[in-house]
Amino acid sequence: MDDLSTAPRFSHRFMMRPFRRRDADDMTEAVQASQTELNEWLPWAHLDYAKGDATNYIRDSIKSWREERAYDWAIRRLDDPDRHIGNISVWFVSRSFKTGEIGYWVRTDETTRGVATEVAARALQIAFEELKMHRVILRIAVGNRASERVAEKLGFFREGVLRQEIKVRGKWLDHSVWGLLEHEYRKNFDLYRGLVGFVEGAVEK
Ligand SMILES: CC(C)(COP(=O)(O)OP(=O)(O)OC[C@H]1O[C@@H](n2cnc3c(N)ncnc32)[C@H](O)[C@@H]1OP(=O)(O)O)[C@@H](O)C(=O)NCCC(=O)NCCS
Repeated sequence: MDDLSTAPRFSHRFMMRPFRRRDADDMTEAVQASQTELNEWLPWAHLDYAKGDATNYIRDSIKSWREERAYDWAIRRLDDPDRHIGNISVWFVSRSFKTGEIGYWVRTDETTRGVATEVAARALQIAFEELKMHRVILRIAVGNRASERVAEKLGFFREGVLRQEIKVRGKWLDHSVWGLLEHEYRKNFDLYRGLVGFVEGAVEK
C-alpha cells in the first residue's frame, strides 16, 4: 500500500494535520484543561499528565505514521490554528481483513459543538476512500454517552459488548463495539459529505 499522504485534511471548520514535535506544549495544555473528562474514559489521560507524556505520544505518532501502523491528526480550527482542539486517529486492527479503528478526544471547552462528529466523518472518508478499509470500528466504554452519540450520528451499528476490555483508573471497563461497513458508508455518503463540507479526496462510487 502507498503511504498515506501527510497533507492536512480539511472540513467545514477544522484542519486535521499530522503531529509535529513542537505541538507538545499545545497538546499538554489541551489535555490538562480537560483532565477530569479525559481521565474518566481514556487510559493514558492520568491526572499528572505533563509535557513529557505529550512528547512521547508525538514521537510514537510520527514513528507509527512512518511505519504505516497508525495515523494520528491534531485537530485545529481553521480560524484559530494555534489552539489544540483534540486528536483523531485511524489505525488498522487487521490489514489482511481490512478492518480499522477510529479513536478521538476533544478538549472539554469545545465539546457539544459537533467537533468529534465532523472530524470523525472526515476520518471515515480517509479510512474507506484512501486506506480502502472494509470495516471500521469504534470501541466505547459503557456509559460514555457523548461518544455513543457520536457513533449514532455517524450511522455506526452497536454490535456487542467486550467485557473488561480496557483498564482505566485501575478499573476494567466494559466497552461496546460499534461497526460501519463499506457499503453502509457508501449508502450514507451524503451524510458524511454534509458533515465534512468538503469532498476533497472522496470519490462517490
Ligand atoms: C466523546 C467526545 C469526543 C465528544 O466530542 P464532541 O465534540 O463533544 O462530540 P459532538 O459534539 O460531535 O457530539 C456529542 C454528542 O453527545 C451529546 N452529549 C454530550 N455529553 C452527553 C452526556 N453526558 N449525556 C448524553 N449526551 C451527551 C451531545 O449533546 C452531542 O449529541 P447531539 O448532537 O445529539 O446533541 C468528547 O466528549 C470527549 O473527548 N470526551 C472524553 C474522551 C472520550 O470519551 N473520547 C472518546 C473515547 S471512545
